[in-house]
Parts: sequence; C-alpha cells; structure tokens
Amino acid sequence: MDRKEIAAREAVKYVEDGMVVGLGSGSTASIAIRLIGQKIRDDGIDVVGIPTSTASDLLGRAVGIRIGELDDHREVDITIDGADEVDPRLNLVKGLGGALVWEKIVASSTRVEMIVVDDSKMVEYLCQKAPLPVEVVRYSHRTTARRLAVLDCEPVLRTTEDGKPFVTDNGNHIVDCKFAGIDDPRSMESEINDTPGVVENGLFVGLASKVIVASDKGIRIFERATSEL
Ligand code: A5P
Repeated sequence: MDRKEIAAREAVKYVEDGMVVGLGSGSTASIAIRLIGQKIRDDGIDVVGIPTSTASDLLGRAVGIRIGELDDHREVDITIDGADEVDPRLNLVKGLGGALVWEKIVASSTRVEMIVVDDSKMVEYLCQKAPLPVEVVRYSHRTTARRLAVLDCEPVLRTTEDGKPFVTDNGNHIVDCKFAGIDDPRSMESEINDTPGVVENGLFVGLASKVIVASDKGIRIFERATSEL
C-alpha cells in the first residue's frame, strides 16, 4: 500500500459517529476523504464534513459525506489534512496545493488537527526543501512580493501550466517564497501577515495536534507536547 494511504487509513480510525470532521486538501487528505466516505457506507456512521477547499467540498459530496459550513459549528472535532513540511516541533509548511487560507481557518477551529504525511515531508527546519506559499490579493501583488523579498526570501508568483497566475478559491494569487530556512516560524508568520496585501501564509505554528508519518518501516505517530498546546 502507498505510504500516503497508510497514513490516511490510520487517521480515519479516529473518525467516529456524530463528529464534525474537517476535510483537508491535497493528495493525502483526498485519500482520507474517500476512506471517510467508505466508513460512512460500511459502518453506517453519520458525520458532517467541513471542507478546506472547493476540491475537498466536491470530493466529499461525491463520496457521500454530508457537507456543512464551518460557521454553523463552534468547533470541529477532528481535521485530517496533509502538509508539505513538518519540523520536529510539529510546525508545518502548507499550501503547495493552494488551499492554505481555509486550511488554516479550519485548523485553528479544530480540537484534534491530525496531519497525514509520508516520511519525505519530515525536515529539521521549515523551508528546508519547500518554498513558503503566501496568498496575496491580486491588486498590487508585485508590490507585495517586493516587500516580502525584504524578509530574506525569493518570492515567485505561482503560475499554472499555461503560464497564467494561479488563482485560489478566494480569487487571490499565491507567491511562493524561497527561504534558506526559517528559524523562528512564529515571528515569521506574524511578520509576513503584517505585510499589506498578504491574506495569509502557509506557516502553521502550534496547530497540529498529531502527525501520522508513514514510511517503508511502518507508522510513527507524533503528538505535540502539552506544554506547547
Ligand atoms: C494544500 O493547500 C496543502 O496544504 C496540502 O495539504 C499539502 O500541499 C500536502 O499535499 P499532498 O498530500 O498532496 O502532498
């Protein structure tokens, strides 16, 4: 079985009848969404799914998950989502799939944020391999990118295969910022978000409760230390 599927299968074990479940975005979270649909059919459980993107909304509906709105719930019981990088403190880089804004809103409303990854996503420090996705408003996106460059990164406007700027579910663009590494993710998260024109960035600090990592040797589950909760 593929490592992403192994991680997703483990996470779906935590989904129970009556839960409000955040539906993550990306290839690993999509496997989890399909498995939740299967669990609804096989075990007859009832859950409400809160999508983190238009794609997860459509997929959730297609596999038979009752889709709800975040605003109708005080809290999400569990969210299963992927990540692009995970550091030893379980801070994350997310957003290479372009869904970081809804993902962060849902994660920050979730009791148990469960991240499913294969071991290629584990890094010593954030932005070791991946660029940091930053969602910016279309108006003045070049000015915003120039300001982001002052934070010691190389910002590149994300484009689609036909060379057009990528447009998010919110109608914005994404600037992928290549850093040499980020030592203090919490202050960098705030500094980036203080830049006019920035909507949100893909640093997820202190949001993951559990990270399920699948490798060829099996599964490891990391939990955030309570002192960091
Ligand atoms: C979507 O915007 C991202 O945050 C994804 O969760 C992340 O890119 C992981 O995706 P994969 O599971 O496809 O690697």
